[in-house]
Amino acid sequence: MPRQLEWTRRAVLRLAWVGVIAASALTIEPLVQYLTSKEDRLQSTLVGYSKPLDVNSDWQNTANARVWVKRDSLGVMALVATCTHLGCEVHYHVEKKEWLCPCHGSIYDLEGRPISGPALKALPRVAVELKPDGSLIINTSKQVGMDTRV
Ligand code: FES
Repeated sequence: MPRQLEWTRRAVLRLAWVGVIAASALTIEPLVQYLTSKEDRLQSTLVGYSKPLDVNSDWQNTANARVWVKRDSLGVMALVATCTHLGCEVHYHVEKKEWLCPCHGSIYDLEGRPISGPALKALPRVAVELKPDGSLIINTSKQVGMDTRV
């Protein structure tokens, strides 16, 4: 006759403690990563860009790695290189003139419209202000339409 497992109060409490300790161990590493991250969470939503932009220039990266600017015949535009699927940073592929997401393979065209992959929406365009000295202030908290230029 097989031996029956006895669930005493002590055994249940011991098992519960093992569960609590295991859950704590699993959450400590992400918590430490979050607390020690060098990413500035209080970063301003305004990004400056002061280099000259030629007409029909290619996308140029700003001081904020995810904010890019470009000038075409209609004006200046800004794009945030954050994948619209789950938020990974997308990378601009200069030769292909495409934006590629390393996380799940979404591909966007030159203008940031999705071509393939799980992402369904275009990369966000954000407001740009052209200063009298020619420099740009990009407001990453204010989304604009794909056709908006300054
Ligand atoms: S986060 Fe970019 S494809 Fe999933």
